[in-house]
Amino acid sequence: MDIFEIDGPVKLSGTIDVAGSKNSALPIQAAALLAPGVSVIPNAPNLADIRSFETLLESLGAKVHRDEAGLHIDATTIDNPVGEYDIVRKMRASICILGPLLARCGKVKVSMPGGCAIGDRPVDIHLRGIKALGARVYLENGYIVAEAPAGGLVGTQIFLGGPFGSTVLGTDNVMMAAALAKGTTIIESAACEPEVADLANCLNAMGAKIRGIGSPRLIIEGVKELRPVTYSVIGDRIEAGTFMVAAAITKSRLRIRNFDIDNMVAVVDRLQQIGAVIDRTADGCEVAQYGSIRPADITTQPYPGFPTDLQAQFMALLALAEGNSVVTEKIYPDRFMHVAELNRMAANLRKEGPSVIVAGVERLVAAPVMASDLRASAALVLAGMAAYGTTVVHRVYHIDRGYERIEEKLNAVGAKIRRKDV
Ligand code: EPU
Repeated sequence: MDIFEIDGPVKLSGTIDVAGSKNSALPIQAAALLAPGVSVIPNAPNLADIRSFETLLESLGAKVHRDEAGLHIDATTIDNPVGEYDIVRKMRASICILGPLLARCGKVKVSMPGGCAIGDRPVDIHLRGIKALGARVYLENGYIVAEAPAGGLVGTQIFLGGPFGSTVLGTDNVMMAAALAKGTTIIESAACEPEVADLANCLNAMGAKIRGIGSPRLIIEGVKELRPVTYSVIGDRIEAGTFMVAAAITKSRLRIRNFDIDNMVAVVDRLQQIGAVIDRTADGCEVAQYGSIRPADITTQPYPGFPTDLQAQFMALLALAEGNSVVTEKIYPDRFMHVAELNRMAANLRKEGPSVIVAGVERLVAAPVMASDLRASAALVLAGMAAYGTTVVHRVYHIDRGYERIEEKLNAVGAKIRRKDV
């Protein structure tokens, strides 16, 4: 198992390029199932989660390979529409084969995803959505089974709101199923995340007819068939946001490229409150933190609100602020595994229900710490670059799920991170 040894504090300078978005590429891998033939994602990031999804696609009958032109998915033959427990349990995003396989094969079985380190993560809204399209849905030995009616799925009006707002992969699933349904589907309270818009744009490039993209009201006119596509995903806004925090926490200046800063208005707003100076560039931004880190309150919300996937990283930054901040999690109220680990590095964080009171400290001190999930581990790497001494982050496989060669990218701009196999 790999660990990171991180020497700090460091100053960073230079340019970092972000990869294609993980959370766009995952559902777009599933979308390839909708059309017989070869679809290509030229800039699919080379991440553990993307490779797990490749294994899932192969288990369904697709042929997958990667070369310099990108990730190729040949979905000509799909002869086993079953998301097996052993694959789904490793990656919850596997659930997004549900909609496309139901539409393409008329029947699908997917292992019911369990909880994970960030909370319960139910899929009831996904199921409500595909039931509304006419599917019969039942649970059998831990598997969700969904069957389309004899004449195929039928478009309708569907409300997809839940107790924590909209659902990203739920919207994706229903949108993909509705793309091949008869008639028009209207999804109300659709997720507006840029990755959902990216999937909708990809589906339209495959021949779907989706309007209202990026809004909470998606109108999907069903079509008879879709064709394979070559589609490049958007830059990863969460990776970009992580590097923006890297600049701020090390009081450095970084240029970050290959993403759309218009997708990050809430993040930019909080960074400016914290005292960072952000200059837009044609392909991203420059971020600099000159003075002290100011406190800021943060509440995570569905897009365009502040993303839950950057909550942990911002908490590491606010741990070094001159004053107190409150961080409130409204998407995953239990997503606070990083709190105890940051406290081991001399942060002063106190959890109060779905919030954490962050009392800023003057310095963080290196310690051995344990990564628990993808974004929590990113927060520990950021803290390690600012902390005094050598921080050891255990279980870095969590970070490899969502960041491509993070230590190489950060070392190229001045970090001192060593990956060791222990
Ligand atoms: N929810 C329900 N019922 C459902 C579905 C969701 O109650 O049927 C709840 C969830 O428990 C949560 C909220 O609704 O409280 C929002 O969850 P959502 O369904 O939007 O999450 P997701 O689609 O499973 C994606 C990302 C996550 C990201 C969330 C929120 C992918 C592959 N995953 O998950 O990304 O945190 O949206 O933005 O796109 C990550 O990349 O580290 C990550 C966890």
